[in-house]
Amino acid sequence: MTDSLLMSSGKPRIFSGMQPSGVLHIGNYLGALRNWAKIQYDFEPIFCVVDQHAITVYQDPKALRESIEQVAALYLAAGIDPDHSAVFVQSQVPGHVELGWIFTCVTPMGWLGRMTQFKAKSGNQETVGTGLFCYPALMAADILLYQAKIVPVGEDQAQHLELTRNIAERFNHLYGDTFVVPETRLPAVGARVMGLDDPTQKMSKSAEGANHAISMLEEPGRIKKLIGRAVTDSNPQVEWETAGPGVRNLLGIFQAFSEQSNAEMRAEFDGMRYGDLKKRVTEMVVESLSPIQAKYRELMNNRDHLRHILQRSAERITPIAEQTVQLAKERTGLFSG
Ligand code: TYM
Repeated sequence: MTDSLLMSSGKPRIFSGMQPSGVLHIGNYLGALRNWAKIQYDFEPIFCVVDQHAITVYQDPKALRESIEQVAALYLAAGIDPDHSAVFVQSQVPGHVELGWIFTCVTPMGWLGRMTQFKAKSGNQETVGTGLFCYPALMAADILLYQAKIVPVGEDQAQHLELTRNIAERFNHLYGDTFVVPETRLPAVGARVMGLDDPTQKMSKSAEGANHAISMLEEPGRIKKLIGRAVTDSNPQVEWETAGPGVRNLLGIFQAFSEQSNAEMRAEFDGMRYGDLKKRVTEMVVESLSPIQAKYRELMNNRDHLRHILQRSAERITPIAEQTVQLAKERTGLFSG
């Protein structure tokens, strides 16, 4: 790795992204977005709306276009500071696909075939695009394009991150030391929020079922209904130590939003009836989301400003991406002028 690829601020660089394949839910928020906002000032942060990943499964073009700006607005509404952090859309920077192709060529098919997300997502598709299979090579490119040291994500991305490390190491082995091998950063609580209708499945944007996820834009009345219908268990009251998966999930959601310690959680909830637990969780979710929703509406009402932020960030980081692509081309022997 050349010195010129190191950051200018002296702080380690972080990179992360989310797919604009639907409205973000509280799993995305607690597992990733809130953590990004919290740690951003300790790093040189780059946050991307990964639209090229979203089209690995068919997206209605009009809905996708809207969703890209919605996700960007939610980043900002959740506290990402665009004067400090870069916030942009993947397809604004061509380096992602350029490096993605090079990584596709160094990634053995066997590595990709082991990805649990590919197995889960391809299972319910009539036809599976090749992109869905190669997806982790593009994800590795997103991260390594900026030589990011740390990648803050939820637990479900840990396997993809491990693969990113393997791809970086394989490239470095084949072509000489070029890429930083990044680390995964999970939040202490909220790394895996489960579905309200089935607490054995992680909360997901694409899951079927009206009672599955709480969107970050959900109205208070709907949040009350969703949590009211959430699966619990047959015990009469909360027991922190022995709670079943549904109750554990509700407690986890409360704890992640409130940032209370285990001792505080036990003191507040042990012995509480489920009706009261659901009431407390509802209040916490509504209170936490409402300022984000207000900020989001403001941002979506001023699209020119939002687009300006995306453009400005993309321009700021493009030289870093271009420099890495140039280096990767030189190392691999591609024509690089
Ligand atoms: P995506 O869009 O599925 O999810 C975005 C982020 O939200 C986290 N997350 C969750 N955390 C806790 N509980 C849940 N139920 C839950 N569901 C989702 C994810 O872990 C993720 O951090 N492949 C990525 C997008 C991506 C990316 C990248 C991420 C593309 N390139 C480079 C990091 C770095 C994805 O599909 O995330």
